[in-house]
Amino acid sequence: MGTSLRVRVRYFDDFVKKSIEKGLEQLVILGAGYDTRAYRIEGLEKVKVFEVDHPDTQHFKTQKIKEIFGSLPNHVKYMPVDLETLTLGQCLFDNGYKSSKKTLFVMEGLIQYLSQKSVDEIFSFIARNSGKGSAVIFDYHDESVINETSKAGKMIKNFLEQVGEHLKFSIEEREVEEFLSQHGFSNIINVSSKKYRNKYSPEADENRKFYNPMFFAHAMVDEKFY
Ligand SMILES: C[S@@+](CC[C@H](N)C(=O)[O-])C[C@H]1O[C@@H](n2cnc3c(N)ncnc32)[C@H](O)[C@@H]1O
Repeated sequence: MGTSLRVRVRYFDDFVKKSIEKGLEQLVILGAGYDTRAYRIEGLEKVKVFEVDHPDTQHFKTQKIKEIFGSLPNHVKYMPVDLETLTLGQCLFDNGYKSSKKTLFVMEGLIQYLSQKSVDEIFSFIARNSGKGSAVIFDYHDESVINETSKAGKMIKNFLEQVGEHLKFSIEEREVEEFLSQHGFSNIINVSSKKYRNKYSPEADENRKFYNPMFFAHAMVDEKFY
C-alpha cells in the first residue's frame, strides 16, 4: 500500500502539472486532507485552488498552514464541507467557483469513503458545471476490498476499520468506463496497478508488492456539457 500511495501522489502530481501547461484556471481538490500541491507545484500560485474537506480535518490543516506560512495563501480557498450531507455545488459557487472556467477536480483517496449517492452527485455536478477542457482524476478500489474477497483488500479494509475509517464505495474495473460515460465524461483512461508500476517503477523486482485493488482513472468532461 505504501508503495502504491507514493506512486499515486506522483501520478496525480504529473497530471496536475500537465493540466497547468494546458491552461488550467481552477483546481478543486475534494477530500484534500494534507494535500500539499497548492503550496509546492509551480504555476498553481496563479490558479484558483479550492480545498474541500471534512471540517474536522480541514481545521487541523489550516492551523498547520498558518504555523508554516504565517497566514493562509491568497490563491487557496478552504471549504469545510461534509460531502455526505452538504451539496458541493452551492458551497463552491458561494466561494467564487466559476462554472465557465477550465477546471481540474482531484479526488485522491476519497470516493471509497462516500456513499453511492454522494459519488453520483459529485460526478454529475462536475460534468454539468465546468468549462471547456475540464477534467477529473481520482482513484478507486474494486469490489474485492468492500466484499473482502481479496487478501490485500481484506487486510486494508480491516486495518482502516481499526483506525475508524469505513469503506463504502467501490467500482469494478470493467465498469469504470460505463460509470464515467453515464455521468458525462469522455477520453476515459483507467490505470491498473500493473500500468502504474510499469510507468514509475519499471525496475522493481517481483518481490516488490503493489496494492492491486487500487486503480487510478481520469477523464474529460464530455463536450456536450459545455
Ligand atoms: C485517505 S484521506 C486522503 C487525503 C488526501 N486527498 C491525500 O491523498 O493524502 C481521505 C480524505 O477524505 C476526507 N473525507 C472523507 N469523508 C469525507 C466527507 N464525507 N466529506 C468531506 N471529506 C471527507 C477526509 O477528511 C480525508 O481528508
